[in-house]
Amino acid sequence: MADREHFGSNLTVILAMAGSAIGLGNIWRFPYIAGKYGGAAFILVYIAACIFISVPIFIAEATIGRRSHSNCFGAMKKLAPSPRWKWLGILTVITPIVILSYYSVVGGWSVNYFMVSLVSGFSAYGDSSFASFIGSASRPIVFHTIFLGITALIVMKGIKSGIEKFNKVSLPLLFVMMLLIMVYSLMLPGAKEGVKYLLNPDFHSITPSAIAAALGQSFFSLSLGAGTVLTYASYMKKQENILATGVGTAMGDLLFALIAGFAILPAVFSAGISPGEGPGLIFETLPYIFSRMGMEVPFLSRLISIVFFFSIVMAALTSSISQFEVGVSYLVDEKGCSRRQAVYIVFLFAWFLGAICSLSFGTLSEIKLAGRTVFEFCDQLTSNFLMPLGSILLVIFVGWVMKKADVRDEFTGVGTQTLSGRLFGVFYFLMRYLAPIAILVIFITNLVM
Ligand code: PHE
Repeated sequence: MADREHFGSNLTVILAMAGSAIGLGNIWRFPYIAGKYGGAAFILVYIAACIFISVPIFIAEATIGRRSHSNCFGAMKKLAPSPRWKWLGILTVITPIVILSYYSVVGGWSVNYFMVSLVSGFSAYGDSSFASFIGSASRPIVFHTIFLGITALIVMKGIKSGIEKFNKVSLPLLFVMMLLIMVYSLMLPGAKEGVKYLLNPDFHSITPSAIAAALGQSFFSLSLGAGTVLTYASYMKKQENILATGVGTAMGDLLFALIAGFAILPAVFSAGISPGEGPGLIFETLPYIFSRMGMEVPFLSRLISIVFFFSIVMAALTSSISQFEVGVSYLVDEKGCSRRQAVYIVFLFAWFLGAICSLSFGTLSEIKLAGRTVFEFCDQLTSNFLMPLGSILLVIFVGWVMKKADVRDEFTGVGTQTLSGRLFGVFYFLMRYLAPIAILVIFITNLVM
């Protein structure tokens, strides 16, 4: 087999992992959930969930990837003592392809909104525009194809000249763009209400369901259990620091979620609207705000809307390339495909399922799986079920199946990283006990709620 590619440095690994983590989850879910469940109090719980549960899971997943230097399926073949674990390999190859399918539909919507902001602005946008756009048959599929096509082109270029290069440029740009929008948004009249909504420290809201929400959000946001962390880590060099990668990714992800919150909520409150969760927040509420502002300050509001939707496209792309790469790396390693062939195959799968997801807002809305449209089904199946299932199995694999000495080797860079060496015991404990129990709790909460 040809030499496996590597990311250039530890920093570029963190950028790629952060790129995968930072995405639509930060922009449309975090601000809303943080506000709903107690503001600053929720954010503290969220940070604790990240440190004690999500980062250890991240490290477990990365340990398998780096140890095996293989794709998700190959990793199980190399490291697992029993062939039964191949099911975990299959699970972690399938999950990100399903995510990619509906994610790229939403990515396509973002491209559409970016184009609208560029070409005509939102002045003519009425309340029903979003619903009629996503319910129409052809336009969303055209944009889904464009978004998935761009993702495919980046992945086709490989780890270093495709994925790494793209993340290196787009992530810093994304931060700067979001910071600009945040400053603008904070200066709007009435912005304070948005800040209060996000930060109001209401400790009474910290109920068990708030804790489950914090965990669930940190899982989706850090892309855990979907094979992306494993696959990216398989392109890490031996001497690179897994602990720093996990902590760096979680910090970047949190920082971006907060910046997105301060960019979006003040604008929403300033327009006198109460924030909602999900696609409606960015595709309905914000165009409405832009169109209203457009009457007073046309140039600035137009510019802000262009930058905003461009940021969303970028954030979605840095995540979709990580989902795409999992399937590609599997097909290249296990099925002997060339990278180009593998990209075509993943593209076709995700395109087809994505097209069905897209049509489930209109033509195919009558087709229901477990009472949900295909889009809702794919979304909920992956975030509420497949990602936690992948996470619990990965963490059990590292905590209970792999040899402790091997895990320590990966965690400490073969004993060269002193801080990691000192913290190993703590993380090993978290991986073996706390993380699996916490995942089980979310699982049950999701099933009963
Ligand atoms: N973490 C990404 C987000 O917040 C979504 C994602 C999930 C990416 C799973 C990769 C794998 O939008």
